Amino acid sequence: MKNTNIRIFDTTLRDGEQSPGVSLSPEKKLNIARKLDELGVDAIETGFPVISEGEREGVKAIVGDGLKAELCGLARTNKKDIDAAVDCGLNYIHTFIATSDIHLEHKLKMSRDEALEKAIEAVEYGKSRGLQVEFSAEDATRTDREFLKKVFGAVASAGADRIDIPDTVGYSTPQYIGEITKDAIEVSKLPISVHCHNDFGLAVANAISGVQAGASCAHVTINGIGERAGNASLEEFVMALHSLQFENTWETNINTKLIYETSRYISKLAGMSVQPNKAIVGENAFGHESGIHTHGVLNNPLTYEPISPEIVGRTRWLQVGKHAGIHGMNAMLKEYGIEPNDEQTKQILDKVKALGDQGKQVTEVELLSMANEVIGENKLKRIVQLAGFSVSTGVGTMPYAFVKLNVDGQEFSATDYGVGPVDAALNAIQKITSQITDEVRLKEYKLDSISGGANALCEVTVKVEDARGNIISSKSVGEDIVTTSVQAMVDGINRIMLKNLLKEKKIYIKDKLLNIII
Ligand code: KIV
Ligand code: ZN
Repeated sequence: MKNTNIRIFDTTLRDGEQSPGVSLSPEKKLNIARKLDELGVDAIETGFPVISEGEREGVKAIVGDGLKAELCGLARTNKKDIDAAVDCGLNYIHTFIATSDIHLEHKLKMSRDEALEKAIEAVEYGKSRGLQVEFSAEDATRTDREFLKKVFGAVASAGADRIDIPDTVGYSTPQYIGEITKDAIEVSKLPISVHCHNDFGLAVANAISGVQAGASCAHVTINGIGERAGNASLEEFVMALHSLQFENTWETNINTKLIYETSRYISKLAGMSVQPNKAIVGENAFGHESGIHTHGVLNNPLTYEPISPEIVGRTRWLQVGKHAGIHGMNAMLKEYGIEPNDEQTKQILDKVKALGDQGKQVTEVELLSMANEVIGENKLKRIVQLAGFSVSTGVGTMPYAFVKLNVDGQEFSATDYGVGPVDAALNAIQKITSQITDEVRLKEYKLDSISGGANALCEVTVKVEDARGNIISSKSVGEDIVTTSVQAMVDGINRIMLKNLLKEKKIYIKDKLLNIII
């Protein structure tokens, strides 16, 4: 069994930024590059310098930041593009030209020989400028196989340092990319990278197959962002290499504990949310609802989790709903210090299932109030109480809110602006909580109208998350959207603080140990 370290070439800042709707300022690019460097990627594709002044500004800022990773810039096979990369201070380029007949005929209007010549010239020019040159044959997987070999052999003779195989439209099968990876190694004797797109959901499988066939590097992006359906995602590729059984073992330099944090950071800066069922970083990736699964996980998490969430910087969570079972529900209640007897357990579970059968999601806050109703003692102290709030909005003024909270007897207030009155009020609440305890942030907000008409009841569901990765959802129903939203948020914050209090048996509010009896 061979143990191989696979090089991670991250292209979040280049191919990832080519996702429709994503555009990163130079400052954001620099911050993302720092985060990627901390994560441990081996190379960062910083951008495509020739495209704009802002792009060059971002690339230069990254080059000047003293990061550990190798820094690369994209360039077409012409001097202008390569010079733009050099002018940004880069000493490593990723130069590409399409080689498939469909691209040659309909996009480049060139013959195969002309494209081959351009490829050789670009590699030679890059080398003459003292650069490390990685060459990509764009649309390699739809390129005539013999021509592709000819191109790879020729750029290797011209002095290329690395060859990349782009599956530009995600057209390859794992088997085919494996075959052309072997071809590339045979004709070039150079280190090979694979660059896989996800149009058929095969990007990670194809990248793994490339590595199994001898590629030593994969081009990936955080959260799999990229053109159309995106690129092979770093987190899925790395965790599959680290965790699954292959004939050889694979390692990377990625600090996997930083994966989730990095994913959230990129999602926020790129303005692209992560689908809940996304592997490794999706919200549901380590969440369990059904009774059978929660029971298994409580006995041994590996029954229904292929890896422990902590490995990628996450925590497991349980939720109750129509599939709930006794074990999962009681485990959740125990986190709040509630231990119902058998009869009480049955009654609470019946209530949970009745709500679930109506197609409703049962939030943790609702579970706790059901338990309170059944057990009949008010065991749950509210740490945070809403002491008052007001909002102002209108045409020509920025919506503004004032919120006062009573936290274990002490009053705190804050004001903030927002895109609307709800946003302003929730921002003010978060301002208070971030001043007094660990950061608690609003992760998700959902508004439903329960009945029709202008006086309809509204239902607000919020998900709040603290710095430890605890996530609580809370729901509130009322006539006024702002009041109902504020109530849902305050309920959520209460529960998340209580959960931490019960776990750690203490909670500090502004350095003062909270005086609380449970
Ligand atoms: O997918 C692709 O073909 C690319 C090229 C620029 C290499 O991103
Ligand atoms: Zn690409």
